[in-house]
Amino acid sequence: MSENILEVKNLRAYYKVLKGEVKAVDDLTFNVRKGEILGVAGESGCGKSTLANTLISRKPPLHYISGEVRLLGKDIMHMPSEQFRKMRFRNISLIPQYALDAFSPTRRIKQFISDLVRDHGIKADQKFMAKVVDRLRLVNLDESVLDRYSIELSGGMKQRIILTISTILDPEFLIADEITSALDVSSQRYVATMLANFRDEGIIGSAMFITHDLSILYQIADKILIMYAGNLVEIGPTDEIIKNPRHPYTRALIASLPQVGIQYKDHRLEGIEGTPPALLNIGEGCRFRFRCPYMSAKCEGSPALENVSLDHQVSCWYWKEVESDVSA
Ligand SMILES: Nc1ncnc2c1ncn2[C@@H]1O[C@H](COP(=O)(O)OP(=O)(O)OP(=O)(O)O)[C@@H](O)[C@H]1O
Ligand code: SF4
Ligand SMILES: [Mg+2]
Repeated sequence: MSENILEVKNLRAYYKVLKGEVKAVDDLTFNVRKGEILGVAGESGCGKSTLANTLISRKPPLHYISGEVRLLGKDIMHMPSEQFRKMRFRNISLIPQYALDAFSPTRRIKQFISDLVRDHGIKADQKFMAKVVDRLRLVNLDESVLDRYSIELSGGMKQRIILTISTILDPEFLIADEITSALDVSSQRYVATMLANFRDEGIIGSAMFITHDLSILYQIADKILIMYAGNLVEIGPTDEIIKNPRHPYTRALIASLPQVGIQYKDHRLEGIEGTPPALLNIGEGCRFRFRCPYMSAKCEGSPALENVSLDHQVSCWYWKEVESDVSA
């Protein structure tokens, strides 16, 4: 088997609605290696959750259109759903955005856990619960939380419970969609660090960590994928993306992040004026062109993904001209 856990090639997944197609995942190509944490970032509505859902369960109106996705070498886009169900939790696990909303105020945590795993065909027997208790200790939670109600726990504690349960069968690949966004800053760091610890200890193999917060990715991600309006605009090693971004949009995102300690000499893009385009029936062309200071007539055509270096790719006609005028 290759050292890639996940291989995605020209993936397209659209929402088919009455007025046409919302092209929310449009021609994405990337890999995730064994042991790697891939951070996925971009503005609200750029398609991060759609990407997560495309990999796991495509419920109408979301439809797989084309492209290839291989998880552990297996083609999961064309796999019968029963076969994929068997991989859920065991090989691939998702912590959905808004997972915290799943806690019921009237059920104890123990009951919440057994209901959750039962949906995946797992029995919460004594042996299973003993493992849960062991794992809860890893995230600094005492077994007494099992007898408590969710309203007695903080958001950070609940998110650590979800992280524990989602990874209880040691999946090779975990997708964590905005698991830190509802938390205060110190809990955000804590939960993100826990996820990285799980990877370091071999509890999970690799992960896709989705967030709109690049500063968290700077701390835990090995590689960062930047999405804009349903497209992948840049992907590369974390340090490269933060310190030497090539896409004008990535540069703008990073310029708005004083906490990562990077400052541009050129502030033209700071704040990123304008809004992303609507994705319904969107046509050809670079989707950032309406906000891009480098835009020219050529940008009416869609740019291809090009190699900046072996691990760093960018989708912009003028990436070579977008000088890396960044000072750390
Ligand atoms: N059920 C749906 N039907 C039609 N369009 C949808 C549906 N769900 C999402 N979309 C559209 O798909 C695009 C991508 O949405 P998505 O939720 O994937 O974005 P996101 O990057 O996860 O945003 P956020 O950061 O707010 O979570 C948006 O334009 C959104 O309006
Ligand atoms: S392709 Fe053109 S519009 Fe798009 S980011 Fe590059 S320069 Fe800007
Ligand atoms: Mg989302």
